[in-house]
Amino acid sequence: MTEFGLTQMEIKKVGVLGCGLMGSGIAQVAAMAGFDVTVLEVEQKFLDKGFAGIEKSLAKFAEKAALKETPQAVRARLKGTTSKQDLADCDIVIEAIIENVEEKKKMWASLDPIVKKEAIFATNTSSISVTELLTAVKRPERFIGLHFFNPVPLMKLVEVVKTIATAPDVYETAYEFGKKLGKVPVRTSDKTGFIVNRLLVPYLLDAIRAYEEGVGSIEDIDNAMKLGCGYPMGPFTLLDFVGLDTTYYITHVMYDEFKERRFASPPLLKRLVMAGWYGKKTGRGFYDYADPANPKAGTF
Ligand code: 3HC
Repeated sequence: MTEFGLTQMEIKKVGVLGCGLMGSGIAQVAAMAGFDVTVLEVEQKFLDKGFAGIEKSLAKFAEKAALKETPQAVRARLKGTTSKQDLADCDIVIEAIIENVEEKKKMWASLDPIVKKEAIFATNTSSISVTELLTAVKRPERFIGLHFFNPVPLMKLVEVVKTIATAPDVYETAYEFGKKLGKVPVRTSDKTGFIVNRLLVPYLLDAIRAYEEGVGSIEDIDNAMKLGCGYPMGPFTLLDFVGLDTTYYITHVMYDEFKERRFASPPLLKRLVMAGWYGKKTGRGFYDYADPANPKAGTF
């Protein structure tokens, strides 16, 4: 029973769609929490890459004595697959594939007839409407958002997103599942950006606008927010960390929803994305990562 007196279903087996940065992180925390996890990818090479990252992260946790068991024991609960049939008996499936409405809907529509009908479907989307995605399945009342933060193994938050169609017992099961993953769940509803991106994205875009207006250099704005406000990363370091392509995509979805300037992409963000400078992952964004230990701030 939950604090609201609702009966929860028992979750034992977790399916994860996508073994990129977010998918592999979600799979890792679920395995660390004791769940059996199956991760789906389109090709074995993506599973290999994701699992290599998981092993590195588990080794770091073990080094700091932050694991209750050996990395091998956690790893033994993780399985990779390229066959959707292997997700048939999952109790919850969490999707963390490319942030594209059509791709996500296609994925969910193809899984719906395969996965047992009591299973909960959860999307890790950061900006797409959860309500739009649930139209792809025949179990809208069992569809929710579970939004994790990068790097998933370290960030304590998960946003649990309710839609107008979500059944209360499904929502409470997902909320308690968030706790079992070792996260702090927060309750939110399906409004674009949820809580965190609703507040974070205008802040990041304002930092770019402040730079465009000559308020300060990239390094000085980063240092100002780090040292003046105690943020772990300055806005430009965080933009490069999240990915400028990802942020640019989110601005479009948010601007489309709210039609407010604070969600609109500043010209410089668009130029960097057009140039293919997506941040840390491409070696260049607001900073140049040629020497990764000493990123060099750009001047634009
Ligand atoms: N697994 C296990 N351990 C890890 C790890 C991983 N993946 N990554 C780092 N660590 C460990 C390191 O070994 C280190 O351990 P130590 O203290 O014993 O040396 C410790 O974690 C701290 O790491 P670092 O020293 O490398 O770096 P920081 O102290 O700067 O911490 C950080 C890194 C936690 C990422 C911190 O900088 C931070 O909180 N940054 C902000 C991140 C953030 O805001 N994320 C949200 C982005 S928005 C989002 O995701 C939403 C989306 O929709 C856009």
